[in-house]
Amino acid sequence: MLISEPMVRELNEQVMHEFNASHSYLAMACQLEDWHLSSMANWFRAQAEEEREHAMKLLDYVLQVGGRVHLAGLSEPRSSYSSPSEIIETALGQERTVTEQINALMNLAVKENDHATQSFLRWFVDEQVEEMDSIGHLCGLARLAGDNLLQLDESVRALNRGGVEKT
Ligand SMILES: [Fe+2]
Ligand SMILES: [Fe+2]
Repeated sequence: MLISEPMVRELNEQVMHEFNASHSYLAMACQLEDWHLSSMANWFRAQAEEEREHAMKLLDYVLQVGGRVHLAGLSEPRSSYSSPSEIIETALGQERTVTEQINALMNLAVKENDHATQSFLRWFVDEQVEEMDSIGHLCGLARLAGDNLLQLDESVRALNRGGVEKT
């Protein structure tokens, strides 16, 4: 195995954090669908897909370096929210947590002089900058729209162009 046991253990943890983030985004998408805010629902659905891809990317790296993948059970995501703003705020908190998790992984790789994992994790560091930027943008749109949820959904529709739309 090319990397240490503790590193493999922490990468496995992150696989589950990403699957849980995916699950949570999917629950948010379903709540938004329930409110007929389809564009917002599609945005969260696309996020759910992305988090799944992150989990798979980590999983493939663990396999590539000869580590064992351990898939734990998913946590039940929160499925009921009082407003779209609450969903967006929760998503922002979730992304902040993931950013801290990625930074902690990188700190471990640095501490262990594990150059391969540092190189691998750099993509995730950059990805979190993008994720924080896009969720921050969504927060801004929600503030601008205020109580006008149709306006908010309309603004998010523009963000979804080129993204994953529900068919
Ligand atoms: Fe992620
Ligand atoms: Fe994310």
